[in-house]
Amino acid sequence: MTGKAKRQASAGSSRDAMLAFLKDRRGEWVSGQILAERTAMTRAAVWKRIGVLREAGYGIEAVTRKGYRLQEIPDRLLPSEISDGLKTRIMGRGEIRHLEEAASTNQTAKEMAISGAPEGSLVVAEAQSWGRGRLDRCWFSPAGQGIYASLIIRPPLPPSEASRLVLLTAVAVAEALRETTGLAATIKWPNDILVGGRKMAGILTELAMEMDAVNYMVIGLGLNVNIDEAAFPAEFRSAATSVLLETGVPFSRVLLLRRFLEAFENRYLLFRESGFAPILARWKTLTDMTGRQVTVQTVGGSYRGKVAGFDGDGFLILRDEKGGKLRLVSGDVQMV
Ligand code: BTN
Repeated sequence: MTGKAKRQASAGSSRDAMLAFLKDRRGEWVSGQILAERTAMTRAAVWKRIGVLREAGYGIEAVTRKGYRLQEIPDRLLPSEISDGLKTRIMGRGEIRHLEEAASTNQTAKEMAISGAPEGSLVVAEAQSWGRGRLDRCWFSPAGQGIYASLIIRPPLPPSEASRLVLLTAVAVAEALRETTGLAATIKWPNDILVGGRKMAGILTELAMEMDAVNYMVIGLGLNVNIDEAAFPAEFRSAATSVLLETGVPFSRVLLLRRFLEAFENRYLLFRESGFAPILARWKTLTDMTGRQVTVQTVGGSYRGKVAGFDGDGFLILRDEKGGKLRLVSGDVQMV
């Protein structure tokens, strides 16, 4: 991590008293003396901290005999912004590592998990140079326009049940989008998030196991927030969409990410307490695939047929053209 990234990360690991004070008085002048008193810092430490916040993108004016005035909060996925007002106990409560550019946030999160990062630790990046999707595809990750985030969890589960968390994550993303933007987000099995038939978000989960238990899982979320149509590479344009494209207005990435963390925690605690059935029931209300003709690309080959439904493990039941039934664990679905 660079010195700058380190300072940004530590700036947000707990609610920052000085930033909170300035935010409560946004647009007003606050003297250095008052800031020092209220935050139990020296005047010199206040000045230093102002410098760090400015470096992270906060627009703070400083004028002799007037003091400091917060004018602008940056549109960046800063830890201090993500944690401010976040209503979770676990998710986003470990380390939040913010990177200007990651190769892949999943890769960074795996390294953190191996070094012992606790459940709920999070990696966010403004851009990715090697954003990865399912089936070895790449994930378009332009700077400042999307959410590229990877969450570390340590569920006490056998690896055979890890795919349940994939469906759970899709529920959380769809719920966060519906609640924040009002868009009718749906789920394409197992975990693509669509709006109007086009993909708005994707999830890449990766897992490490020890003996017969999950050691850690990395939940990677890519969400197209403020990406304009022309910005999408030609090969994605007809199949992809963004919050901006669907609503016509730009949205706060921080707010969306916070809602995702809250929805995820909510569903995760329900899963830990009551098992998979209530999660699957909710997942089913968010998909409109049953009865549709599809082709499913799996590692074992490609299958065509009608979606008969989903079983208790969340596997897709496909009725093929000869009337036979197939139970598919994972794959990439194309509606036909
Ligand atoms: C998909 O193919 O639908 C999954 C896309 C997942 C993209 C996200 S962006 C953050 C995280 N880091 C990655 O490299 N991939 C995931």
